[in-house]
Amino acid sequence: MNIIDGKKVSSFLKEKISIEVNQRKNEGKKIPHLAAILVGNDGGSETYVAAKVKACAEVGFDSTLIRLPESISEKELLLKINELNNNAEIDGFIVQLPLPKHISEQKVIESILPEKDVDGFHPTNVGRMALNLPTYLPATPFGIVKLLEEYKIETSGKHCVVIGRSHIVGSPISILLARASYPGNCTVTLCHSKTKDLKEFTTKADIIISAIGKPHFITADMIKQGAVVIDVGITRVSSTETKSGFKLAGDVKYDEVAPKCSFITPVPGGVGPMTIASLLQNTLLAAKESIYKKNSKVICA
Ligand code: GUN
Repeated sequence: MNIIDGKKVSSFLKEKISIEVNQRKNEGKKIPHLAAILVGNDGGSETYVAAKVKACAEVGFDSTLIRLPESISEKELLLKINELNNNAEIDGFIVQLPLPKHISEQKVIESILPEKDVDGFHPTNVGRMALNLPTYLPATPFGIVKLLEEYKIETSGKHCVVIGRSHIVGSPISILLARASYPGNCTVTLCHSKTKDLKEFTTKADIIISAIGKPHFITADMIKQGAVVIDVGITRVSSTETKSGFKLAGDVKYDEVAPKCSFITPVPGGVGPMTIASLLQNTLLAAKESIYKKNSKVICA
């Protein structure tokens, strides 16, 4: 059994990004600048956004954190997004999800200029991903693909079972792994809350990607000997062992599942750190204008 060390791979990727930022500085080019909008005070979102801002500093990016109250109206949030769309200093930005119930996430996502959508959530970028065109890949699926690549895990012809069909992880990773490329060429089955007899699928899977946010849901009896298990779950569960009063739990019952696997990601230290490194990578691409040329008529139409 091999543990996939997302912390190590993400450090390596961040190191590569910081070298490129230094080069840009020396050449007098623009320093990549990521902005993050955080609405309200959700504990999980606070932690994630703080980690994103910290990672920007680590690689030498500029960053701006915009905190808005839970009570902000949808209209006011859309105005803020419009400001960022038109601010040439900001290369890319994210609106941390989930948003309060009175705000339409879809409207918000669609109001972000695709060229600045470093989360890769805008329908234009999702469509480009599905068509295998250059785009910003959503950070978590991008991170998973990088891990498979880094550990040279064979994917061609493998049966990959994805559990969870969210727009952030399950749906995009199922598209990416079915693409005619490496990592890819998988036969993908996308399971979700309405799937009957999940175990019937998971026990036949060469690769399992679990993104459901149910702590310790995947047990050893659901896994084929030698499977690759990628655990995307990061649920906060209360704990008396930590100062904060909680710890992070994956979807997978790690202790019993790991011995059956050829490769497995731990939680924490697996997919999580890769998500942040991928967001940085997308922001660097945005600063380099390597996917969209700024002010291109095509994307502004
Ligand atoms: N909430 C959970 N994951 C993400 C993410 O990757 N981006 C944003 N914006 N919100 C999230």
